[in-house]
Amino acid sequence: STTRNYEFNIQLQNVTRLCHTKSMVTVNGKFPGPRIVAREGDRLLIKVTNHVSNNITIHWHGIRQIRSGWADGPAYITQCPIQTGQSYVYNYTVVGQRGTLFWHAHISWLRASVYGPLIILPKLHVPYPFTKPYKEVPIIFGEWFNTDPEAIIAQATQTGGGPNVSDAYTFNGLPGPLYNCSAKADTFKLKVKPGKTYLLRLINAALNDELFFSIANHTLKVVEADAIYVKPFDTETLILAPGQTTNVLLKTKSKFPGANFLMLARPYVTGQGTFDNSTVAGILEYESSVHMKNLPLFKPTLPSLNDTSFVTKFSNRLRSLASAQFPANVPQKIDRHLFFTVGLGTSPCEKNQTCQGPNGTRFAASINNVSFVQPSVALLQSHYFDQSKGVYSPYFPINPLHWFNYTGTPPNNTFVSNDTKLMVLPFNTSVELVMQDTSILGVESHPLHLHGFNFFVVGQGFGNYDPNKDPKNFNLIDPVERNTIGVPSGGWVAIRFLADNPGVWFMHCHLEVHTSWGLKMAWLVLDGKNPNQKLLPPPADLPKC
Ligand code: C2O
Repeated sequence: STTRNYEFNIQLQNVTRLCHTKSMVTVNGKFPGPRIVAREGDRLLIKVTNHVSNNITIHWHGIRQIRSGWADGPAYITQCPIQTGQSYVYNYTVVGQRGTLFWHAHISWLRASVYGPLIILPKLHVPYPFTKPYKEVPIIFGEWFNTDPEAIIAQATQTGGGPNVSDAYTFNGLPGPLYNCSAKADTFKLKVKPGKTYLLRLINAALNDELFFSIANHTLKVVEADAIYVKPFDTETLILAPGQTTNVLLKTKSKFPGANFLMLARPYVTGQGTFDNSTVAGILEYESSVHMKNLPLFKPTLPSLNDTSFVTKFSNRLRSLASAQFPANVPQKIDRHLFFTVGLGTSPCEKNQTCQGPNGTRFAASINNVSFVQPSVALLQSHYFDQSKGVYSPYFPINPLHWFNYTGTPPNNTFVSNDTKLMVLPFNTSVELVMQDTSILGVESHPLHLHGFNFFVVGQGFGNYDPNKDPKNFNLIDPVERNTIGVPSGGWVAIRFLADNPGVWFMHCHLEVHTSWGLKMAWLVLDGKNPNQKLLPPPADLPKC
């Protein structure tokens, strides 16, 4: 294994899309940011220097950070932000994982422009468990805002209302030809040769939307999800929630087809808000020795905007390989059974203010009715230096504060309680967590992301979770293992994980607006007895608050 050094300079850069030029916070002036490539077992040293007026942190989404929580990145959870003029070196080793992940800013809404692919290749000479691809291509989905996303969330926070939606979705930062005023150069083009196999590394880095993806007249073979190999299957269409990644094999046609093919992505929408339903397009173009003009352009059909049945079927098809080489180590004996409600709610409006949320309240969101309040010092430091007093409570509720019964109609009391609470787990606790969508303000799917762990998705369903009946149908053999899972709208999902990584680990909805409203919490996993089961000491350059 090797040590790989990267330098991330956080700097402003003028970028033009949809005829709007704006100055954006970027890494090294690039949008999207640079690609990081490493091998399983490598150590990464990424020096981040902040040259802008915003505070910044970077998160390595899906990296397990075994004992190295100081490098995880969520602001005020594992570190204080890197302030203007300061640097911090993220220092971690990639232990026992390989696949497609991504990195992104983890403070406010800066990840709208500060994100990029993070690719972990297998160890040298270790092959993929599928056809060796001729070429590998990362396609990272994002959102483009004509105005400054920081201003959008600041305004929404002030009024208690919903923030403006983005102006376009993008492939590798490019919105494509279906948007007004999109320049030719603003289209992602994938040039391919006939008769070859391409590995597409798909990443959903969008802020607020789950996205369907399809390429006209081509079947895709799914081989990996969230950097874990899955049993291969063919599909025309995929769904990716923000925070999810999927690898697919694209086998090109055996001869030059005399046509070009659009690849499209557009949102899966189950809420009732005002959502943008526009579509990002890229072009799959076959290289040919003869230059041909005016080729026909084929367009794929995507599921309808609210096609939950497609989403359910798709996620049920994802299964771990569960082979001798890649076993599915599903915890079979459970130490802690937990039940969390997740969803939207409301907060009272401050005096002398008019709030733009439901019935004059403010929008809020919660887990077990607790809306997470961001502390002003980092939780991991507070824990490590035994200074938790006045920073957080170690008593995250093990049941919802308001008794919950899903009927499809909202209860009278939609208020959340605001607090900074952690769920404490002794080292090596095996956890089964059922997350139930409350659908209090309209049904909506919530892609929950857990830092520091992968988990197994052992079951999911609609309506109320039934603790007597539903566990009988859990898949404990080959459930998919991942780091982000959609809690289905009007339904529930059950996950299992082993708390074998000491530290403070964030869990939140990866729809940025729901995170802003408080749909987040943190776990505190205590040190184990052996020296190699303890959190490492903090690095000397760890930023201070
Ligand atoms: Cu990709 Cu805490 O997030």
